[in-house]
Amino acid sequence: MTAVELVNKAIEGRKRSYSPYSHYAVGAAILFKDGTVVTGANIENAAYGCCICAERVALFSAYHKGYNLKEDVEAMAITSESNRPCAPCGPCRQVMNELLSKKTKVYLSNLKGDIKEETVESLLPYGFDDLD
Ligand code: THU
Repeated sequence: MTAVELVNKAIEGRKRSYSPYSHYAVGAAILFKDGTVVTGANIENAAYGCCICAERVALFSAYHKGYNLKEDVEAMAITSESNRPCAPCGPCRQVMNELLSKKTKVYLSNLKGDIKEETVESLLPYGFDDLD
């Protein structure tokens, strides 16, 4: 699957965003080496602190389906209607650092077709891994 195709999966996932407070819909898609794609979208709450980002919905959902994300993920894509390719927030970068390999490709994108290729490590250099 190409980067553009994976971004299109994130755009599909974005359609199931629940974002009545920010009106800012975000989509995410995780591609596995066997070709499976798991998507996510942001899900908000009247108690704003309970909102969860698209990236974490996709990552937690995939983890709970039983995937070994560190070994089996080919790439992840994130998209929104931003002018610049949508960049993940700090906590999502930390969750990516926990569950994905540092070398996993992450495509930041928007609805205009801009795609920026990063990695987990480039998004979160010198990330916190464990208590050592
Ligand atoms: N949001 C994401 O889903 N991913 C990000 O990386 C940044 C922000 C969501 C959270 C909230 O529902 C909305 O975008 C506005 O911040």
